[in-house]
Amino acid sequence: MSVDLLLKYGTVIVEGKEYQRAVAIKTGKIEGIYKFGQEPEAETVISCKNKFVLPGAIDIHVHLRGMNQSDKEDYISGTRAAAAGGVTTVVDMPNSNPPVLDWESLETKIQNARAVRYVNVGFYAGIPREVSDFDVDMAKNILGLKVYPHSPLTEGITYDDKRIKECLTLASDLGLPLLVHPDTSKPEAKSDSIEGFFNIHSCQSEIDSVAKFIEALQGLDNEARLHICHVSCAASARLITKNRAEERLTAEVTPHHLLLTGADFSNEDGTAKMLPPLRSPYDNEALRTLLSKCGIDIVATDHAPHTSGEKLSPFLQANSGIPGLETMVPLMVTEVFEGRLTWVEYLRVCSSGPARILGLVGKGVLSKGYDADIAVVAKEEWSIMGSEFQSKAKITPFEGRKVLAKPEITIVGGEIVYNQGKFVVGAGNVGTVPVRSLIQLRNT
Ligand code: NCD
Ligand code: ZN
Ligand code: ZN
Ligand code: ZN
Repeated sequence: MSVDLLLKYGTVIVEGKEYQRAVAIKTGKIEGIYKFGQEPEAETVISCKNKFVLPGAIDIHVHLRGMNQSDKEDYISGTRAAAAGGVTTVVDMPNSNPPVLDWESLETKIQNARAVRYVNVGFYAGIPREVSDFDVDMAKNILGLKVYPHSPLTEGITYDDKRIKECLTLASDLGLPLLVHPDTSKPEAKSDSIEGFFNIHSCQSEIDSVAKFIEALQGLDNEARLHICHVSCAASARLITKNRAEERLTAEVTPHHLLLTGADFSNEDGTAKMLPPLRSPYDNEALRTLLSKCGIDIVATDHAPHTSGEKLSPFLQANSGIPGLETMVPLMVTEVFEGRLTWVEYLRVCSSGPARILGLVGKGVLSKGYDADIAVVAKEEWSIMGSEFQSKAKITPFEGRKVLAKPEITIVGGEIVYNQGKFVVGAGNVGTVPVRSLIQLRNT
């Protein structure tokens, strides 16, 4: 028997331990993992000596922009950023321009992404003013519904208990999770000082919003699933942990909320401006502990690209959001190399956990029969430099930070996409668009 591709001499994590193994790939799937001397013949053999062969990261919180915001990012630059960062699947948020509130805008995104993709791309949709107007035809092409209580995709909506329950029920009917950006601040709330910005988007606001959504979830007797985006405060993370209900309530944290604090930045410009804002070392610590203990399920980047001009304006005028696709794997694998995270935890929070939450059967695990979505990572010290990003967004609060892990080769569906700084396939040739879930579709 001969396979298509053999990744030889690399380090593979088997039951939490490092072993030298060969990974064989055939027709886009992992054909098997072999001990030295037992590997099959292969058309192409790549030596991964001194490198780690890991499942590609799955990032379920990404703003790929495109369309009217292509100056910030488009599907080429965004999926190239993913491939260069060892991220093999991204899921795109609906707060684009135009927003995803109907089939037409979703279809435009799907077609655009399909034409230029470098990784697998899935999508979320928003919910229109009248929940009953939601076009259920979209359901099989999306992976979840997303709501922004502090900044609704259609004006004049309040996320009171009634609206939250309607949204949860719609999602439940479609077999999809409801994702929320937790923040109770009023859409019209404006800050005239930097302090004001932090007061508006306070931990209390995050906690109150998380509490409202959990209460609504617990008040329903359907199978609604709630996913809390970018938890940033110790108290809201604890509230989630306390109410954990495995498949019904899940949560994510970003690398920046795990590793950075507000005190590290002067706030002269918007380099470190994002929502939710950076918090305290106390919050960092609590989030890291709860991530290890499964109180928080996964890591997601909230890759939110803006132009350099938009980021380097004075803090109050600057846009919120930072790029994350090219820093997540380096930062999180560095946590492993420095002993603050185990390999088992890394694999759960960056690959298998995200796949589980969205029902991506066949993804997120480096094992026989799974999709061959792989990140080959070298143990190497280097410094993060925004100017070298594939993303159009070059301003990062991680600028200059030393990391110990470098994604070198990225494989999507068995095809080598990226190899040591170079893209070895053309745009639009690899990956699945849209990524679909196999556990949804109750009502369609
Ligand atoms: C995001 C964006 O720019 O789209 N910004 C951010 O600060 N995180 C929106 C969001 O995820 O809330
Ligand atoms: Zn329709
Ligand atoms: Zn958000
Ligand atoms: Zn976001």
